[in-house]
Amino acid sequence: QTTTLVDRFGRTVDYIRLSVTDRCDFRCVYCMAEQMTFLPHAQVLSLEEIEQVAAAFVGLGVKKIRLTGGEPLVRRDVIKLIRAVGQLEAELSITTNGSQLLAMASSLKEAGVNRLNISIDSLKDDRFKEMTRTGKLPQVLAGIDAALAAGFDRIKLNAVVMKGKNDDEVLDLIEYARFKGVDVSFIEEMPLGHISEHDRAAVYCSSDEVKSIISERYPLHSTTERTAGPSRYYRMQDSASRIGFISPHSHNFCSECNRVRVTVEGRLLLCLGNEHSVDLRETLRQYPDDIERLQQVIIDAMDLKPEKHEFDLNDEPQIVRFMNMTGG
Ligand code: GTP
Ligand code: 5AD
Ligand code: SF4
Repeated sequence: QTTTLVDRFGRTVDYIRLSVTDRCDFRCVYCMAEQMTFLPHAQVLSLEEIEQVAAAFVGLGVKKIRLTGGEPLVRRDVIKLIRAVGQLEAELSITTNGSQLLAMASSLKEAGVNRLNISIDSLKDDRFKEMTRTGKLPQVLAGIDAALAAGFDRIKLNAVVMKGKNDDEVLDLIEYARFKGVDVSFIEEMPLGHISEHDRAAVYCSSDEVKSIISERYPLHSTTERTAGPSRYYRMQDSASRIGFISPHSHNFCSECNRVRVTVEGRLLLCLGNEHSVDLRETLRQYPDDIERLQQVIIDAMDLKPEKHEFDLNDEPQIVRFMNMTGG
């Protein structure tokens, strides 16, 4: 089958984000509530089912697969899935909190992972703890070093910037990225799920504000360089590191959307900021070996892809699902 996936707005979908677990060893304040209940195993796709989903999409022309979570690397035996997906004709990337990288980085490389995005919002021990609740900064820093030592290049760090929380660390994060020779993206927080730690509108920090903090130290040159996602990159004169901005509120990027998501329950989500979805699990379990049927369900689902997200920081979140259900 060679049909490419195109939606009603003419956007081609060639990038899928597969969430392999809703569980995580961290509890980042913008992502989860303090007390979370996770999905029972019966509702979760097996590793084989996730592999079938990946293969179905690649058969439909998808060129890039990103595994997300929760924290993808805490799922038991995930390396088996990664090896299998690594064999498919698509670029394979992982978004991780870095906690398991010290132990796993070299096996990920061997399994065929092409790129890693690693979340890090603070370089201060106590603050890292505040933002992730259960995370340990030294573990993540060691994980980043392990990924570099394993030969990963074009590592991208991700930092969600919140005013009065970590906006004073923007330059420190850049110094760190420059020193390690990695890229870093700064993210505007998105309103998914009801959180209690902070008022999202009150801590909103626009990418333009972050840019102006950086520009005082390093003049930024815009580039047309892109990874597959929404990050828009700038360069500094004297460094190979790129600085990206992910600005869902201040610079809507939906018209160029090229991706869909599959939750670990097998829900094909057409947009991060909407609930339009189709259940793939039902088809997978009812017709276990019928890849063409699964592909037809996916093709038909493209008509449901909404034009854009309607995030509004001043309202109660319209999307009750937390970020860990979708992997961002
Ligand atoms: P690349 O695939 O390497 O370009 O990475 P990426 O930056 O798209 O992915 P990553 O998993 O590192 O996500 C970084 C941030 O971008 C997270 O906060 C995601 O929620 C956000 N993001 C990724 N795709 C989308 C999208 O389609 N819509 C919105 N609103 N945010 C997105
Ligand atoms: N808004 C923006 N980014 C978020 N992430 C998690 N929750 C949110 C949110 N509410 C980020 C993580 C990670 C990526 C997968 O998504 O920091 O880098
Ligand atoms: Fe875990 Fe990532 Fe959510 Fe933090 S943002 S709690 S690391 S899934």
